[in-house]
Amino acid sequence: MNTHKIALIPGDGIGRDVTNAAWAVLQTVANTSGFALEGTEFPWSCAFYKQTGRMMPEDGIETLRGFDAILLGAVGWPAEVPDSVSLHGLLLPIRKAFVQYANIRPHRLLPGVEGPLKAEGFDILCIRENTEGEYSGAGGRVHQGTEDEVAVETAIFTRTAVERILRFGFEQARARRGKLASVTKSNAQKHSMVFWDEITRKVAADYPDVEVTSYHVDAISARMIMAPESLDVVVASNLFGDILTDIGAAIQGGLGFAASANINPGRSAPSMFEPVHGSAPDIAGKGIANPMATIWSGAMMLDHLGEKDAAARVMAALSSVTAIGIGTVPGKDSTDAITAAVIAALTSSKD
Ligand code: IPM
Ligand code: MN
Repeated sequence: MNTHKIALIPGDGIGRDVTNAAWAVLQTVANTSGFALEGTEFPWSCAFYKQTGRMMPEDGIETLRGFDAILLGAVGWPAEVPDSVSLHGLLLPIRKAFVQYANIRPHRLLPGVEGPLKAEGFDILCIRENTEGEYSGAGGRVHQGTEDEVAVETAIFTRTAVERILRFGFEQARARRGKLASVTKSNAQKHSMVFWDEITRKVAADYPDVEVTSYHVDAISARMIMAPESLDVVVASNLFGDILTDIGAAIQGGLGFAASANINPGRSAPSMFEPVHGSAPDIAGKGIANPMATIWSGAMMLDHLGEKDAAARVMAALSSVTAIGIGTVPGKDSTDAITAAVIAALTSSKD
């Protein structure tokens, strides 16, 4: 029997609830699909930081390298550890060290979920560059603590990273509806985004079957709200993609539905699957976190591991649950009730 080794990092706050929920669903689908998921849990989190002074051990990356995939809940507990410390100590180093350069976020309405728009329907796949750009971490502060203090945060765009993310986007567009939106701001950012546009045109030449349009980030933000059905694959830099995918989450009914995959397409290291949402301290411990985003991310993990049928079964189960109104209204159904409903749907779909 095929066994996939999964590193589980529940992290902070609701991260634990949603990871437990997704793991129970994934175990159910594995048991009824003829493969095994072997999970190893790591307590790396802000609580771990308080005990050890680190978000993960020094050899954390090397430990994770041996796994087939990583399922992560949420990182951050700002009341105790500044976000700039916790994120740079766990989530962001994993994305970079494992060259998870494609951050993929699907935005569509599950059946029965209305969302805030009057849109008939939409199906957007946002692909965010995940290793550099505005989040490179290059920069520094000088004259610290004085009136003359300066902070510099330098965005880094390399030909290698821009070209590979666009190419990845074109491949996805080709496999979907053949439309690609390249997100730019070259009217104002005359170095990095002019470069991005040039590379978009260069890569587009290899994909004559894909219809490509460049949109400025401000214009596409409005378009995602006014005409989301006009978009298919959207490729963006790290910061632009971060912001656009929160809009994507909002139009699909909220962060409780927004899944994401940090993919290393070359498979030289494990990929990581996590909901877009964070640790949600305001609802942590209340048992009402919506686990759907993490379950959906788990389906993306199965897909990446080659368990395509199992991934499709999880998505069908999620859809059948939302279709009867379970988990569609924030806070109405408990995490456990939603999880049990998804598991019941999976079990009854077995044959
Ligand atoms: C996300 C999050 C992270 C990001 C934060 C927590 C660093 O907002 O995954 O979208 O910006 O990548
Ligand atoms: Mn974000």
